[in-house]
Amino acid sequence: MTKTLVRGRLLSFRRAPLGLDDCDSYLYESDGAVLMENGLILASGAYDAVKAEAGEAVNEIDHRPHLILPGFIDCHVHFPQMQVIGSYAANLLEWLNTYTFPEECRFVETAHAERIARHFFDEFLRQGTTTAVAYCSVHKTSADAFFAESARRGTRMIAGKVMMDRNAPQGLLDTPQSGYDETKELIESWHGRGRNMVAITPRFAITSTPEQMERAQALAYEYPDLHIQTHLSENREEIDFTASLYPESIDYTDVYARYGLLGAKTLFGHAIHLSAREADALSETGSVAVHCPTSNLFLGSGLFPLKAIQRREKPVRVALATDIGGGTSYSMLKTLDEAYKIQQLLGERLNPLESFYHMTLGNAEALSLSDRIGTLEAGTEADLVVLNAAATPAMALKMEAVNSLTEELFLMQTLGDDRSVVETYVAGVASKP
Ligand code: GUN
Ligand code: ZN
Repeated sequence: MTKTLVRGRLLSFRRAPLGLDDCDSYLYESDGAVLMENGLILASGAYDAVKAEAGEAVNEIDHRPHLILPGFIDCHVHFPQMQVIGSYAANLLEWLNTYTFPEECRFVETAHAERIARHFFDEFLRQGTTTAVAYCSVHKTSADAFFAESARRGTRMIAGKVMMDRNAPQGLLDTPQSGYDETKELIESWHGRGRNMVAITPRFAITSTPEQMERAQALAYEYPDLHIQTHLSENREEIDFTASLYPESIDYTDVYARYGLLGAKTLFGHAIHLSAREADALSETGSVAVHCPTSNLFLGSGLFPLKAIQRREKPVRVALATDIGGGTSYSMLKTLDEAYKIQQLLGERLNPLESFYHMTLGNAEALSLSDRIGTLEAGTEADLVVLNAAATPAMALKMEAVNSLTEELFLMQTLGDDRSVVETYVAGVASKP
């Protein structure tokens, strides 16, 4: 297979930036290149050095003056909710019952799931997102459709069929045993096939009986390496309803703790209204709180204390995500733009280096996958996004006044979206038609 060499300005993080002037936290090459073969990055760095290493048989693509970054990572999305985006509701529970559950019922039809899966991958790659952590519907076939499309595209995806056996329409209910069996079947069919990974996915405490939580616990015990994803403390009414369903638990986090579901591979969507005890419990177990800013604003769920929760004596690991279809944008640029505004309202600062760290290495670390994705390091998977900070007339005009890399990043986050995405590479292959 021929090697591919992409040339441009490179940006890749080494660790979380400590401030706007923390130049050691990232690698920046003003004339850089990434050399790729067989889906992996062979080398990255200064163009001259990487070109010399590449030798003769190389397909060279010049993206100058654009920025080349690791592909974006989205840590919480709902694959069956592409047609739910922008549904007018007062709050989370009304939105779920009125729009979301009826829409997810349609995924019993394989043809529908396959069609939406094609749209999902087209859209995410168009937005520069190369890895997503996805909830499928309760129907195993929806997860089959998702993973099959991912295998065709060669993407690294994490997904699971939601386990839910109460408080939803009949067409969306499994049973403790069928949820367990079908998740197992998915693991056997898809986990490790291509770059697919299966996540154990009890939707949230409201839609799972204690019996189903026990079966999720059994899966977590049998497959300790798998990710677990669920929702936690998103909305006040949801918290109260959960407390009434699990009266023996001291709080919402304790519901999951009692079933052994906390840990370094567990991704808790939202986690907005946590008590200090709950944040301690997440911290002590290495669990991840997944911040979904556009969704939290759209559904009026609350303001997630992103900075404060990381600054605690017992810090909580965090990830960033779109939460399509509660979220209102597929773009990780727009997602971080809204995250920035939420921190502004809380009197906190989220600097642009931190934002781009979260979209790439930060989210890879939250998934315990930074040895494979999230950087431009040699030996990792060749998923890249190429970004143009002057993609629109308004951006080009503002670029005239930009004097530094951090200003350029902040401009891209504030005014940019899919229009800034020039190209997306999946396992070394350009994905734009
Ligand atoms: N809680 C349980 N299910 C969902 C969902 O689909 N979206 C959001 N935002 N919250 C949830
Ligand atoms: Zn969600």
